[in-house]
Amino acid sequence: MKPVAAEPMAFRPDAADELVGQPARVASALLRKARRLRQTPTSNLRVLLYGPPGVGKTTIAELVARELTDGQSLCIEEANGKMVSAEVVRLWMASLAHAGNLFGDWSVVLVNEVDRASRDAQDLLLSYLDKMPAGRAFLATSNLDLSALTDRFQSRFQAIRLEAPTTDEIAAFLRARWRVTADAAARIAVGSGGNVRAALLDLQTFLDAGEPAPKPTKNPTRNGERRHARSRRV
Ligand SMILES: Nc1ncnc2c1ncn2[C@@H]1O[C@H](COP(=O)(O)OP(=O)(O)O)[C@@H](O)[C@H]1O
Ligand SMILES: [Mg+2]
Repeated sequence: MKPVAAEPMAFRPDAADELVGQPARVASALLRKARRLRQTPTSNLRVLLYGPPGVGKTTIAELVARELTDGQSLCIEEANGKMVSAEVVRLWMASLAHAGNLFGDWSVVLVNEVDRASRDAQDLLLSYLDKMPAGRAFLATSNLDLSALTDRFQSRFQAIRLEAPTTDEIAAFLRARWRVTADAAARIAVGSGGNVRAALLDLQTFLDAGEPAPKPTKNPTRNGERRHARSRRV
């Protein structure tokens, strides 16, 4: 395993085994598939990763994109759903006319928070997805439940739900990579509510404060229920 980033906030998983919990298993299966498809681009790939914030949806989509294109970042176009207008989708459709691309076999469009795309854009995306030839991938993520997307839209994808890692999994993950006591790791894990990004931010704050290890709690249940007041970034 590569040396780990010293700062929790700078931690960017770059392989499936650097993720924690169920998302690690999803990543490993998808990356295996991407590796196979890269060698023989006999089909297109349409995947929607959905689930709570901070569990690795964007990370996995980016890893899959990188695997498919063999690290050729010019073959990957990444956008946020909010920026995906009908006009943007029309441009993507126009680009489907060109078979393959100059740089490699695969080209990937990756849309984060695809539910934020306008209804018009989602409608046009339907025909875009239907017309995608082999060697094209459309990877999307959503923090919302599938019901936020039209039925016709969601049925165009292989939809995979990412589950938040458990509190124990997050605590063990923090302890395996940073110098933090079991008690502090457990408190941070509980406070994160399954959001790994939030756990890493809290760990960063904890390490920056240079606090001595928290005393073992006399009343673990009450302590465990304590939640951090600040709002979470999604
Ligand atoms: N399952 C996970 N294992 C390890 N780190 C994670 C995991 N999920 C999220 N992270 C951390 O949080 C950061 C943001 O994750 P991201 O993939 O953007 O989450 P999402 O798209 O689900 O909101 C990652 O760069 C990584 O540092
Ligand atoms: Mg994301």
